[in-house]
Amino acid sequence: MNNLRNKFMLDQDIVFLNHGSFGATPKQVFKEYVGWQEKLERQPVKFLGRDFDDHMNTSREILAAELQTNANNLVYIPNATHGVNIVAQSLKLQPGDEILTTDHEYGACDYTWEFLCKKNGASYVRKAIPLPIADPEKVAQEFLTGITERTKVIFISHITSPTAIKFPVEMICKVAREKGILTVVDGAHAFGQIDLALDTLGADFYTSNCHKWALSPKGAAFLYVRPEVQPLVDPIVVSWGFGIEDFSKTGSRFVDFFQWAGTKDPAAYLSVPAAIAFSKENNWQDVRKKCKQYLDRTIADVTSLPGFASIYSDNENYTQLASIQIPDQFDVAQLKSYLYEEHKVELPVLVWADKKMIRVSIQGYNNEEDIDALVKGLKTALRYFNILETKKVE
Ligand SMILES: Cc1ncc(COP(=O)(O)O)c(C=O)c1O
Repeated sequence: MNNLRNKFMLDQDIVFLNHGSFGATPKQVFKEYVGWQEKLERQPVKFLGRDFDDHMNTSREILAAELQTNANNLVYIPNATHGVNIVAQSLKLQPGDEILTTDHEYGACDYTWEFLCKKNGASYVRKAIPLPIADPEKVAQEFLTGITERTKVIFISHITSPTAIKFPVEMICKVAREKGILTVVDGAHAFGQIDLALDTLGADFYTSNCHKWALSPKGAAFLYVRPEVQPLVDPIVVSWGFGIEDFSKTGSRFVDFFQWAGTKDPAAYLSVPAAIAFSKENNWQDVRKKCKQYLDRTIADVTSLPGFASIYSDNENYTQLASIQIPDQFDVAQLKSYLYEEHKVELPVLVWADKKMIRVSIQGYNNEEDIDALVKGLKTALRYFNILETKKVE
């Protein structure tokens, strides 16, 4: 048993290979979270009325240092969906505007842009990025051919949800800036999986979850906005920050607007420093490397089964999350429930661009037994669903 597993609250009998959907939080980080809630309840008026900004500012500064930016370029928000909504709603799309994106985007965020484009007469243009993915420069070049004189915004994931591909967002943001196009990066899976240096990455707007790969309790994410474009962003909930003229609470108009959005439990935001500290204490750079090796092994083992195939041309295309193509004959819902009911394996089975896939997440608490359980589950599924007997499987 991997000793990191004991540091998490996960049920021991589940083979948890879906950190990508909802990540697990370490026990000591969760304890900190509950500690903040208890502190709040012992003196709510002192905590929320008098000390709130100091606590939030400290947490934001620690997060900003981790992300290599200034604390006044960041605000805490509940989740990445919120982050995309804040930006998309602020940008006041007009008839004829084009939003350029890919066909690998996360459904809820895709819907956000689709909804606003439909409402405002703008066009949402999904540029196809076919599999297997080419080298990053080629991907960027190919994507950027989708720009027209009407392109107002580029919206792109840093690490995609269905296909788990790391997109070359730095190259894309650079070209977009030169052309006067705004960039909105959905980094929901990035923080915690890859190192982020937000000021040099070059996005105008960048949102990521702390509650996925960065191990914080649920309900903690951030929105980064480059200082020059901060005046473009409105909060979805207008609150007391509007009335603060002298930035006395936080030192920034942008932060004042977002930091207080009505009464809410801020414990998840305040536990982010504990999650960052946990990663450092447990040598997370090494943990990530190990996870990547396990994931490489998972792909090799799974694709040795008949009918399974890698969607990557290169193992640099992914980090701790990867999708693997499965035989077409599987019914995705049936396979998912079979793996869970019969093998206790929790992982998503999905369809993307007519390809059926499983998506595997490897986090610090996973070990080789988890990979073995997945491979065994898939092997027996081939028999259970009579797929080995059909001719289509090569
Ligand atoms: C790429 C991507 N963006 C956004 C989200 C939304 O995250 P949340 O539900 O925390 O808002 C997800 C969730 O899995 C995601 O994969």
